[in-house]
Amino acid sequence: MTKTRALIEKLNREKQLEQEEWIFLLKNSDSEDAEFLFSLARKIAKQQFGNRIYTRGLIEFTNYCRNNCFYCGIRRDNRTVCRYRLTKEEILECCQAGYQLGFRTFVLQGGEDPFFTDEKMEEIVGVIRKGFPDCAITLSLGERSYESYRRLYEAGADRYLLRHETADASHYGMLHPPELSAENRKKCLFDLKEIGYQTGTGFMVGAPGQTPECLAEDLQFIRQLNPQMVGIGPFVPHHETPFAREKAGTLEQTLYLLGLLRVMLPSVLLPATTALGTIDKKGREKGILAGANVVMPNLSPVRVRKQYELYDNKICTGEEAAECRQCLSGRMEAIGYELAVDRGDYKEEKKNV
Ligand code: SAM
Ligand code: FES
Repeated sequence: MTKTRALIEKLNREKQLEQEEWIFLLKNSDSEDAEFLFSLARKIAKQQFGNRIYTRGLIEFTNYCRNNCFYCGIRRDNRTVCRYRLTKEEILECCQAGYQLGFRTFVLQGGEDPFFTDEKMEEIVGVIRKGFPDCAITLSLGERSYESYRRLYEAGADRYLLRHETADASHYGMLHPPELSAENRKKCLFDLKEIGYQTGTGFMVGAPGQTPECLAEDLQFIRQLNPQMVGIGPFVPHHETPFAREKAGTLEQTLYLLGLLRVMLPSVLLPATTALGTIDKKGREKGILAGANVVMPNLSPVRVRKQYELYDNKICTGEEAAECRQCLSGRMEAIGYELAVDRGDYKEEKKNV
């Protein structure tokens, strides 16, 4: 057995590795090692979730952002973006349409838009909670205060997605302007967990300046945080950002990391992301076959979809929600899985199945 495979087996037994071991795994793998990892990751995902794929309806409700992250297409300094905000009524219409299609989780995602104060967000979360009592509400609004997170949790939000982006402070500095820090990002994540949210973190694969050492730190940080969800997808350049001419992350590396995450955290909720579907036509299917168990189709009104362009050539910007749901359902069936009509909450690991 190769040393890489021996380390994958060790990860499967012990659910953690030393920094040097992670680095070795990240630097040394061939396609057979990757296949070995994927089949183990698939087996674990099947034990935990059967052949059911959870869906989350993504509502991109504002593309205003006060931040200036170097990688992101909706960064403040991109003056070519036509900015929009959905009204409470429009957000509710998205939920209504999504509910009828079988979505039982709504993800409200947006730039860090100061217009959406705690009061406004409490009201929006409150009406969704009241109108859709059997659904989960996930927020992805970036960095806010402990008090703000607490208020939104009290108002009825269940989950929060906030990728840590990179656990390495100096790499964080290469991706963000100086007013943003890895330290505060991590603090927000621990706050969210403490308050009681099902918490999701994650990072971009192949972000400029990312090394195997950074990725090893990311995996160690994720092990330490022990989140309920992990969102990873390839970095994809956007033409109106400082990273316009950087290379995109690869399919192979993203799949490999999905596999490692599934083995490390057997019951974690792990999406095959839209970015993965953007760099490869079958990216989401391949993500599922590497251990992912969630897809997040778009419920935003078609007229605003192109304006939420975090990176170039983002898929599904012309399709209605129903089309995306049907398309994904067909794609999942073609590889032996089915879309679940279920909140798809985090559950502790099933042992001995
Ligand atoms: N403002 C919220 C936040 O900061 O968490 C939510 C929106 S933010 C745009 C969502 C995620 O998009 C980020 O965490 C980042 O990882 C991802 N993203 C942004 N630009 C990207 C790019 N060029 N390629 C791939 N992913 C990107
Ligand atoms: Fe949107 Fe295929 S998932 S069109």
